[in-house]
Amino acid sequence: MEKLALLGGKPYVETQADESLFKWPIFTEEDMEAAMDVVRNNRFSGTDITTKFQDEFAQWQGRKYAIAYCNGTMSLTAAMFAIGLGVGDEIICPTKTYWGSVSQALNFGAAPVFCNIDETLTLDPKDLERCISPKTKALVVVHYFGHPCDMDPIMEIARKHNIYVIEDLSHAQGGMYKGRKLGTFGDVAAMSMMSGKSFACGEMGMLACDDRTIYERAMAFGHYERNNEKFIKETDELKPYFHIALGGVKGRANQLCAAIGRVQLKYYDERCAEIRKAMNYFWDLVEDLPGIRAIRVDESEGSNMAGWYSPHGLYISDELHGLSVNRFCQALRAEGLVGGWDGGNFCLHTHDLFKTFDLFGMGTPTRIAFSERDLRVDDAALKRSEEYECFSIPWFKHFDKEWIEKYAGALRKVVENHEQLLEGDEERKQGGRWYGMENA
Ligand SMILES: Cc1ncc(COP(=O)(O)O)c(C=O)c1O
Repeated sequence: MEKLALLGGKPYVETQADESLFKWPIFTEEDMEAAMDVVRNNRFSGTDITTKFQDEFAQWQGRKYAIAYCNGTMSLTAAMFAIGLGVGDEIICPTKTYWGSVSQALNFGAAPVFCNIDETLTLDPKDLERCISPKTKALVVVHYFGHPCDMDPIMEIARKHNIYVIEDLSHAQGGMYKGRKLGTFGDVAAMSMMSGKSFACGEMGMLACDDRTIYERAMAFGHYERNNEKFIKETDELKPYFHIALGGVKGRANQLCAAIGRVQLKYYDERCAEIRKAMNYFWDLVEDLPGIRAIRVDESEGSNMAGWYSPHGLYISDELHGLSVNRFCQALRAEGLVGGWDGGNFCLHTHDLFKTFDLFGMGTPTRIAFSERDLRVDDAALKRSEEYECFSIPWFKHFDKEWIEKYAGALRKVVENHEQLLEGDEERKQGGRWYGMENA
């Protein structure tokens, strides 16, 4: 029996790999030049850099239109405005995701309704119909941690009930579901492109769609300089409101980021393919182990994990004598595994924002202020989503066999010797985090 490093043994990975194995995004001279061109020539606004990036992105994404925003939260807000989300509407969202997937619905007087996730940590289509009511206007699907949602049943249910689908593509740009690109299933896709995301170019967001009305409404939201007759041609109801950003927010993208985005897009697919090769190899090496399950897809069906953003494995404590995920992760980190953090995002329905927060000062929690019933009661059905446990694994950017094998060895060592950890395993807490928490 090998003594675990957490208990004083020798760490499995004593010296770490070169940081380039994990560094993301990959910047080359070409990115630097693109950025410096903006700085040197003071091209921060009033140029065609962003519009060129939008055109290139739309073409790559396989959508007619793309609009850049200052961040992903804003692009998703614009998507909600674009589909006409309004007072009293309900919008369904998986409970395990970043707050920017759905919280802004409250600003429109709409109510988030939370849906369960399954063992892929994405929306469970089997729970979807439970969440639908005559007030349901839209559904946000999140390809969480790069795993494509099960879009066949999701779209079937959404179409049956006449619900708009917004794809939150923040974790999965370029991913595929059964041979079709993620971001082309819903009525509109919106996404983050902030520094550490799968597609990363600083601090930016993008919206993509095919429908002209959705495009024009999204354009009018936060894009005051493009809220005019040049861009808004068909949506008559918008025409009296030209020249001021609807929603009272300014959402345009920073051209420094757009310039970098243009370069990143050229190499993105080939870089993602190498990441997938590396990540699949890592999982192949440890998939026989009890207590852990890969969160990945069978690529032979034409699906894939895009750039494998924030890779995680599922943790099944029962198979490891009830060992807590917290202690398991401590042991992984002690062995030198990069990653080794428990959780992902906490389930959104557990946050007081969705229980008591009164945004409009109406004396009623905003989530239910415009509803005919107390939607919070339905959150009781979400316990099983809180119970999924997961842990982060190294996010390899290159297929470096030797190093991948080394980190996989560290994971194997902890699982195979987990019984050493059972004594002293007292501090069991729910894995996960809100942003801004220690270690977040
Ligand atoms: C799933 C998801 N949706 C939306 C966002 C919001 O994007 P941004 O941070 O660029 O505003 C993020 C993360 O940042 C995210 O992870």
